[in-house]
Amino acid sequence: MAKIRKAVFPVAGLGTRFLPATKASPKEMMSIVDKPLIQYAAEEAKSGGVDQLIFITGRNKRSIEDHFDTAYELEAELEGSGKHDLLAMVRNVLPSSASCIYVRQAVALGLGHAVLCAKPVVGNEAFAVILADDLIRTEGKGVVEQMADVHERFGCSVLSVQEVAREETNKYGIVEVEEGPDGELRVVSIVEKPDPKDAPSNLAVVGRYLLTPKIFEKLEATSAGAGGEIQLTDGISALLEDEPVIAYPFEGKRYDCGSKLGFLEANVEYGLAHPELGERFAAYLRKFSAEHF
Ligand code: G1P
Repeated sequence: MAKIRKAVFPVAGLGTRFLPATKASPKEMMSIVDKPLIQYAAEEAKSGGVDQLIFITGRNKRSIEDHFDTAYELEAELEGSGKHDLLAMVRNVLPSSASCIYVRQAVALGLGHAVLCAKPVVGNEAFAVILADDLIRTEGKGVVEQMADVHERFGCSVLSVQEVAREETNKYGIVEVEEGPDGELRVVSIVEKPDPKDAPSNLAVVGRYLLTPKIFEKLEATSAGAGGEIQLTDGISALLEDEPVIAYPFEGKRYDCGSKLGFLEANVEYGLAHPELGERFAAYLRKFSAEHF
């Protein structure tokens, strides 16, 4: 089974939940401590063996391209002033073996449409889709690598899933599963953002997908669904008619950085784990909570 070489990052969304922060700059460039969300996502893909990063981009997203490009003036400045650590950090934003490809999604027709925009670049191989606002912290392998292992074993599409509170099913794609012969969870059905009363389970798809190229055919035949958008969920539902799809409860902690609360939680926990700041930040938090709670 070929390894996963390509990852698609749909980054054309408007980020309305974070206005005014996202009025002129992309939500994917918002930082958890000192690194933008999109860089965490790119690093996770790279560590999973991906060497082609395909960004599906739109208006006001140029800073993402700049972030993964060479910053000549900045590098010359850092070199001149002998700041070698910072120079290495800036140069290593993207390891040199990876290439970036940018595709413009001219109209905001939804996640399924964004993934379809990657078809000419992905071609006929399985690929990952990563939603950068789902930040997932792991002890060992990143989630893309974990999913690539599952794909290697079963040879089909893999969706990362997590249990959510029943009242939250209307925020996610929700899967109904049955256990397969090897203990794997086979997706029986998938539905986008069902009301809690209609949800087939509380197993939610989070922002990591590993898809076979057949998804493109299915997305081409998918018409607008929930919210007038072409839903990736509907494409996956159609894929189920032809191929098995596995739901994979990943190892790691997910932060929903598409919500303000999740974004703050991530900053606190990544701040506490930060090699330079962690101890001082912990001391500050202890003092602050003793005084205020
Ligand atoms: C998208 C998908 C949804 C999935 C979610 C994961 O929704 O449409 O199926 O569960 O990402 O974060 P969005 O969060 O873009 O509304």
